[in-house]
This record gives sequence, structure tokens and C-alpha cells, in this order.
Amino acid sequence: MTRFAALLASFALVLAAGSAAQDSSRLTGPTPFTQAPPAAPLPPPVKDDLRRQRNYPEQPPVIPHAIEGYEISINANKCMSCHARKFTEQSQAPMISVTHYQDRVGNTLGGLAPRRYACTTCHVSQAQVTPLVGNGFVDMDDLGETDRRPRRQP
Ligand code: HEC
Ligand code: HEC
Repeated sequence: MTRFAALLASFALVLAAGSAAQDSSRLTGPTPFTQAPPAAPLPPPVKDDLRRQRNYPEQPPVIPHAIEGYEISINANKCMSCHARKFTEQSQAPMISVTHYQDRVGNTLGGLAPRRYACTTCHVSQAQVTPLVGNGFVDMDDLGETDRRPRRQP
């Protein structure tokens, strides 16, 4: 009898887990994946020119300025007109780091590495939006010695 009750309880658990999965929000929204709803308008980008703290050492820094209309194509890379080493004095933009001049085995090249050409595959501008899913990220500075450091405000 107790075994039967345990079995029932585990079924109930599985059912509960199943319906929770159905109810949780999906990044694609409520539309079935077989349909293509019209894209929502893009929210205005953050363009306060303040460089953001990185969440972890190798994070590609986020872009604090507008990039609308900046061409990245086979003909031109608008980003490099400010971020290339030789233009930084005039533009006051931070230089792309040395890793951007290296190929994947670590050889340093004479110019921008092809794997770093499409800047916006890694660097993105930001917008004030409501996150679609929650985020439990904890800054690594908050992980150790929590008793000695004040908690950061979210
Ligand atoms: C007109 C010059 C200019 C162009 C073009 C430009 N940037 Fe910038 N960028 C800057 C300047 C100046 C800063 C420093 C912060 C600020 O003033 O916005 C900056 C900051 C950044 C940062 C933040 C760096 C950090 O350490 O926090 C990133 C990432 C970045 N830009 C990426 C890009 C990408 C990608 C493009 C092309 C889509 C681009 N930028 C085009 C001038 C430029
Ligand atoms: C494959 C991903 C990737 C691509 C593509 C890429 N970056 Fe980065 N970028 C990074 C990462 C990761 C960092 C931080 C670690 C580092 O410096 O390598 C970074 C750092 C930077 C920084 C900060 C440098 C510093 O010393 O603080 C700037 C500015 C930047 N990138 C601009 C650009 C521009 C402009 C392009 C396009 C020409 C570009 N990146 C393409 C991943 C990328």
C-alpha cells in the first residue's frame, strides 16, 4: 500500500513538472513555432557613452553607443574606422584588444583577424527592456567573503 502511494506521489510530481514546463515563458512567445509573427519594433538603444563593467573577465564588452546604419560588409567595417589602433587618437574609442589581431592558434596577424571581423556577433548594444526570463547571475566578487562585502543592489 505504501509503495502504491509512493508511486502515485511520483506520478503527481511528474505531472506537476510537465505542466510547469508548459506554463513557463518561452523566448519565442506564445506563437507556435510553425508561424512567423511580425517582428516587434526594436527598442531604442542605450547610448549614454558609459563603458559598462564586465560580468566576467573574458566577456565581450557591450556597446554603449548607437550602431544604427554602421556597415559591416565585405566592402567596409564602420566599427574599425574608430576602434582600429591607428584611429583611436582621433576617435577616442578604446582600441580593439590584441586578441582581435590573432588567429585561432595564437599567431599575431598584421591586421584584424577574419574571425573578429563581424563585431556584432559578439558585441551588442543594450536597451531598456523587461527580461523575458529571470536571471540568477551572481557577480564573482559577491561569491567569496560575503560577510565582509555589502551585497550589490540588483
Ligand atoms: C564614431 C566612432 C565609433 C564607431 C564608428 C564605433 N564606435 Fe564603438 N566606441 C566609440 C567610443 C568613443 C567608445 C567609448 C565609449 C563611448 O564614448 O561611447 C566606444 C565604445 C565601444 C565599446 C565598449 C568598449 C568597452 O571597453 O567597454 C564597444 C564594445 C564598441 N564601442 C563596439 C563598437 C562596434 C561593434 C561598432 C560597430 C558596429 C562600433 N563600436 C563603432 C566610438 C565608435
Ligand atoms: C568572436 C567574438 C568577437 C568578435 C567578432 C569581436 N570581438 Fe571585440 N572582444 C571580444 C572579447 C571576448 C573581448 C574581451 C576579451 C578580449 O579582449 O579579447 C573583446 C574586447 C573588445 C574591446 C575592448 C578592448 C579593451 O582592451 O578593453 C573592444 C573595443 C572591441 N572588442 C571591439 C571590437 C570590434 C570593433 C570588433 C569588430 C571589428 C570586435 N570587437 C569583434 C570578442 C569579440
